[in-house]
Amino acid sequence: MALVPLKRRRRAPSPPAGPPDTGRFPAVVLCLVEKRMGASRRAFLTQLARAKGFRVDRAYSAAVTHVVSEQNSGNEVARWLEQQQEECGAGGDPALLDISWFTESMGAGRPVEIEGDGKCWGLGRVRVSWVPGTDPPPTPLPSSSSRCPTGGDSALSQEALETLAEEAGFSGSEGRSLAFTRAASVLKALPGQLSALEEGQALGSGLSLSLGQDVLEDGVSVEVERVKLSERYRTMKLFTKIFGVGVRTASRWYQEGIRTLVDLQERNTKLTRQQQAGLQHYEDLNTPVERGEAESIGRMVQEAVQRFLPGASVTLAGGFRRGKPRGHDVDLLLTHPEAGREAGLLSAVCLSPHQGLILYQHSQENSFALHEGPEPPGGRDVLDRFERCFSIFRLEVQGRPGAARGWKAVRVDLVVAPVGQFPFALLGWTGSRHFERELRRFAGHERKMVLNSHTLYDTRLNLFLPAASEEEIFQHLGLEYVPPTQRNA
Ligand code: UTP
Ligand code: MN
Repeated sequence: MALVPLKRRRRAPSPPAGPPDTGRFPAVVLCLVEKRMGASRRAFLTQLARAKGFRVDRAYSAAVTHVVSEQNSGNEVARWLEQQQEECGAGGDPALLDISWFTESMGAGRPVEIEGDGKCWGLGRVRVSWVPGTDPPPTPLPSSSSRCPTGGDSALSQEALETLAEEAGFSGSEGRSLAFTRAASVLKALPGQLSALEEGQALGSGLSLSLGQDVLEDGVSVEVERVKLSERYRTMKLFTKIFGVGVRTASRWYQEGIRTLVDLQERNTKLTRQQQAGLQHYEDLNTPVERGEAESIGRMVQEAVQRFLPGASVTLAGGFRRGKPRGHDVDLLLTHPEAGREAGLLSAVCLSPHQGLILYQHSQENSFALHEGPEPPGGRDVLDRFERCFSIFRLEVQGRPGAARGWKAVRVDLVVAPVGQFPFALLGWTGSRHFERELRRFAGHERKMVLNSHTLYDTRLNLFLPAASEEEIFQHLGLEYVPPTQRNA
């Protein structure tokens, strides 16, 4: 990309003000322009990028390679750069980029290639860069005339579909959201790159209906870009990432004109105890939990559990059991080989005095009663009714790059299952959510059975089918065993 060189005084470069960590992409150092983006969105985007392994410096220095701004013209950013260079006495020749480059890179999990003005890149087909000193500013929305001619524009990406699923969820369209989620999952399972036609065939007509004619004509990436840039989507995403905030609350706040986390505090918005904790630990809770961290929390809980109930076991479930290297929380299943002994274990663990390690917790009692019979598929059975503790742990972490304090807040779900229900709980809590949904659907449609995290019920025989292991559940369903690492659908 050719940038018009700027007049600048070259002095000795000052050290970078950001974290010393070079991140996963040593050649890329981001700096976000606060003007128009706002302080809280900037903080949020910084945290997002860091979570994805990017190095983001708070202050400009000669080390910065990519300057990202939002709703600023080329001239404005060029002036901003000149001023920064003046202030810090450092040069540098960073690429000046529109936020759409950033969004695309976050989606891709890597810095996407920057191409010249008027060209296209990947799916986006947006102008991502411009020459300082030239106006008009880049249009954030791609126009159909700037379509990528290489055929890339018809390709649906999994990430694009996931964004559409999320957006549909934010608008309360559960059906559409599910159609996109399913399509994303199908795409994940398909080999290699497909033509638009093949994709359409594989994904089915439900998706076309969900997308709508205009989107099909304009290209999915245009729609995705529009969604990502929309204020509502961004705000909903910001709010729903607060522990304890769902779509309904986020939507209400949006309608009340609240846009940022700072707004929430300044307006004294009424928050539940859970949401207060979520807001207080927002950054930590939106930073991925590493496998090693999950394992040490597992050990901590194991020790505490042993103290109260020797013989009880703690099993790491969720994404980590599926082999994922990182996740958003730690899911732990507790049980005891003697039925009934596990009752009350959780309150003992969560409320014990040495648990200064628990920053927040709320418990739910076991409300499962076998005599009530199975719940209808797709109904309440999605929610399980185990004794459960939703908590935030304080985990000591050494040598955390850029962090002043030596600890981190981590979301932990503790779930207690009586031994007879344990295989069902383990299957249900290992996920993925999509895998569970499809497995339960299969059980209902193909086998006339109701599967949930407590039991498997055969509606033709009118009986519960017991299982001592996950393997036995698959046998009852007439399926070959699927190991956890293959349940990432
Ligand atoms: P998570 O939401 O923790 O997902 O639920 P995950 O797969 O571990 O991914 P991360 O944490 O985002 O990395 C784990 C599984 O537990 C079940 C879901 O089926 C999900 O797949 N689950 C979760 C429930 O059954 N009930 C709940 O209330 C929450
Ligand atoms: Mn999890």
